[in-house]
Amino acid sequence: MSPYYFCFTSGFARKCALGYLVFFVLFGVQINLISAAPGEQDLARGEYLTRVGNCLGCHTAKGGVPFAGGRRLSTAFGTFMTPNITPDKETGIGHWTEEDFWLAMHEGKSRDGRMLYPAFPYTEFTKVSRADVKSIFQYLQSIAAVSQVNPAHEIPFPYNSKPLLFGWRKLFFKQGIYEADPTQSEEWNRGAYLVQGLGHCDACHTARNEVGAKKDAAVGGGQMMGANWYAPSLYSRKEASVTDWSLEAIIELLSSGVSKHANVSGPMATVVQQSLQYWSPQDIRAMAVYLKSLPDKTTQENVRYPEMPESAKRYLAQGEKIYEKYCQDCHGEVGQGVPGIYPALANNRGVTLPVPLNLIRAVLNGGYPPTTHLNPQPYGMPPFQQLLRDDEIAQVSSYIRNAWGNRAGLVTIVDVDQGRGGNH
Ligand code: HEC
Ligand code: HEC
Ligand code: HEC
Repeated sequence: MSPYYFCFTSGFARKCALGYLVFFVLFGVQINLISAAPGEQDLARGEYLTRVGNCLGCHTAKGGVPFAGGRRLSTAFGTFMTPNITPDKETGIGHWTEEDFWLAMHEGKSRDGRMLYPAFPYTEFTKVSRADVKSIFQYLQSIAAVSQVNPAHEIPFPYNSKPLLFGWRKLFFKQGIYEADPTQSEEWNRGAYLVQGLGHCDACHTARNEVGAKKDAAVGGGQMMGANWYAPSLYSRKEASVTDWSLEAIIELLSSGVSKHANVSGPMATVVQQSLQYWSPQDIRAMAVYLKSLPDKTTQENVRYPEMPESAKRYLAQGEKIYEKYCQDCHGEVGQGVPGIYPALANNRGVTLPVPLNLIRAVLNGGYPPTTHLNPQPYGMPPFQQLLRDDEIAQVSSYIRNAWGNRAGLVTIVDVDQGRGGNH
């Protein structure tokens, strides 16, 4: 019934006003349903989820326009170029529907049906709910459109072949939204959803085989695709497992980048800086609850190291001299560090990882923990590649891996050389 009709027939001003009110409310709701224009809250949620997925990190070239793509990701399979995901109709995804976007995130297919390369972590994003994908899409459609054509991927044969990608997907890509584990708490499930899905931690933290597929999705730890860094296993106490840590310490490390147990560095520092520091306190906590619950699958629990031969002792004594001269001022006489400023090297898993790559990179290139709102002015470490020769870096690295109770394999000149190059 039209309010006009109601007004004319009722004769009561109050009822008439009420009629108009009802009409406008209904009509208003209808408009909203038809156009489904996202409100400010939807957009804020979309923006937040975009941060959680760190779309910006990959889809922005160094010094480039946010989300306009053009970042080169070099991998063992060639160099991938990230596309423009701003709402520009010609060069971005302005002409995409929400369904197109869903298929990209959930099935790894582009708008024209092309299978996407898993350098885009849809193997993890497939676990994200439809509602969350929709929010991300709405946000991305609301940002400024940028016209930018990016160069093509540089993927040599055979990795550029469609049948190979097709076969790869058949073998290694399992599509499907995260399914909650009813035996676990809601918080744990939220953490699992974030870690396995949008947070795409597995994209780095899993060993990959020759064709870039995860070797054993359950164990993890591996040389990172696209960067000369080792991403330690979240399932090993000797690597990056946090089962023994308090929830507070996990939260501190992952939201600020530093904690009393460890600092994050390299690609992990980038993850904290670009994404994790923005996670809501509830989400960070849920992630910590989930990470803490991961089973420990350490394989070499009690490796017995043989007595050091004399030659090795001499090698380490050389390293000790270098340590005293160049490192001790910051890292301390007994590798104790200065809490919150210089990381301890004694009893530091980053130093004794079976693969010494990250340690070598730290000494060669120096580095900073991430700049975060909780740690706005991190202290840095100077690079030593101009100051020390490769054999000296090998000696000092071997020394810190075997001093103050640390015990790990010696580092050679060849290892040091392998630590050069690669991005990051
Ligand atoms: C680790 C880097 C990385 C991250 C993180 C990442 N992407 Fe991408 N994305 C890529 C690469 C590389 C491609 C190109 C894949 C191809 O062409 O086969 C891509 C492709 C896409 C495409 C397909 C575009 C087209 O034209 O077909 C969309 C859409 C997309 N990404 C959206 C996102 C969103 C949304 C996020 C955050 C939730 C995100 N990406 C996070 C690397 C990334
Ligand atoms: C771009 C690759 C990449 C992604 C994505 C990534 N990590 Fe890492 N992560 C690394 C690397 C490399 C290291 C080793 C360097 C270091 O210790 O900071 C690391 C280290 C860690 C450590 C050990 C820190 C320490 O020193 O004990 C934890 C815990 C961790 N990551 C958790 C996560 C979680 C949780 C996620 C998902 C939200 C994640 N990572 C996503 C690459 C990555
Ligand atoms: C000026 C102070 C300073 C000096 C000198 C210094 N470092 Fe560092 N070092 C730091 C800081 C700060 C960090 C944390 C950097 C980061 O998180 O990226 C660090 C990180 C490290 C790490 C990585 C630790 C981890 O938790 O992953 C190693 C290994 C290391 N230093 C070894 C050395 C060695 C070996 C020397 C001498 C050749 C040395 N440092 C000299 C300040 C210093």
